[in-house]
Amino acid sequence: MQIAITAASGQLGAAIISQLITNIGRDNLIGIARTPQKAEHLGIELRKGDYNNRHEFENALKGVENLLIVSSMDEPQKRIQQHRNIIEAAKINGVKKIVYTSIVGDKEKNAFSPIVKSNRQTEEDIQNSGMNWVIGRNGLYIEPDLEYIDKYIASDGIFNSAGDGLCAYTSRSELAFAYAEMLTDNKHNGKIYNLVGGAISQTQLAEYINQVYHTKLAYKIASVEDYIKDRQNELGDFLGTIIGGIYEGIKNGSFNVKSDFEQAAGRPHKSVLEMVAGFKKTQI
Ligand SMILES: NC(=O)c1ccc[n+]([C@@H]2O[C@H](COP(=O)([O-])OP(=O)(O)OC[C@H]3O[C@@H](n4cnc5c(N)ncnc54)[C@H](OP(=O)(O)O)[C@@H]3O)[C@@H](O)[C@H]2O)c1
Repeated sequence: MQIAITAASGQLGAAIISQLITNIGRDNLIGIARTPQKAEHLGIELRKGDYNNRHEFENALKGVENLLIVSSMDEPQKRIQQHRNIIEAAKINGVKKIVYTSIVGDKEKNAFSPIVKSNRQTEEDIQNSGMNWVIGRNGLYIEPDLEYIDKYIASDGIFNSAGDGLCAYTSRSELAFAYAEMLTDNKHNGKIYNLVGGAISQTQLAEYINQVYHTKLAYKIASVEDYIKDRQNELGDFLGTIIGGIYEGIKNGSFNVKSDFEQAAGRPHKSVLEMVAGFKKTQI
């Protein structure tokens, strides 16, 4: 059985491929990437696939039975068509099963909602494709917070608009563990899973970081409007609005969802403390 993973040059794609190599070996794995050279370190067959180019995917998916689509990073409206390019190319090639990395969250209520809405549209497109499917709705990655620790230290704490809202985080390696199972075991076909761990507040996140990194971070609350402006100033309008919208969503409970991780992965999700400690080990 040939299994292909898109965006193999990215961190999630690469983590899923590494997990699959551990589980089933390299032989039947194909990495598809816009920039295949960036994925050479994975040591598997690579094929070229830009999400904007359906023709490239028509070639890249030849002989593929199971396909994992990593969701696009582009603007919401562009993503829908990019994903359709891949789905159509999969149909033409007789792909049997698509696994899609979607996102948890609310499709109406905050500045992150357009992203969630576009993911739900792709979920629908995949469900209507006639192929077998499994959908994972990813929680927020914890890694970006941990990559930000130096900035948190410089500003004496974690500053955002989440307030007391709870967020069920995950990590790329936890997701990779679950996706490897979802791709290779057909008992998951037709399921939609929330791939998240236990939900925590920003104050608890600061405490876990302090415990592992021996920092003294406190949590400082900002208003939704101020935080969106703050992020737009640093990251530009598109990304700033997305990040601001994510914390608006946490405040309103959109990321406090029930976890289906154990059903998908066959084992419980790691605790936040384990994820923070595990991330620190990768930095040494
Ligand atoms: N749950 C969360 O907290 C969270 C956070 C951020 C993102 N996400 C979503 O998760 C996805 C994967 O995250 P990640 O950590 O792997 O991100 P990443 O490390 O930044 O990788 C992004 C990947 O997308 C590829 N890509 C971008 N535009 C493409 C195109 N037109 N055609 C083909 N490939 C394209 C990049 O290819 P190149 O190497 O050629 O640039 C790269 O492989 C993202 O795409 C986004 O949808 C989720």
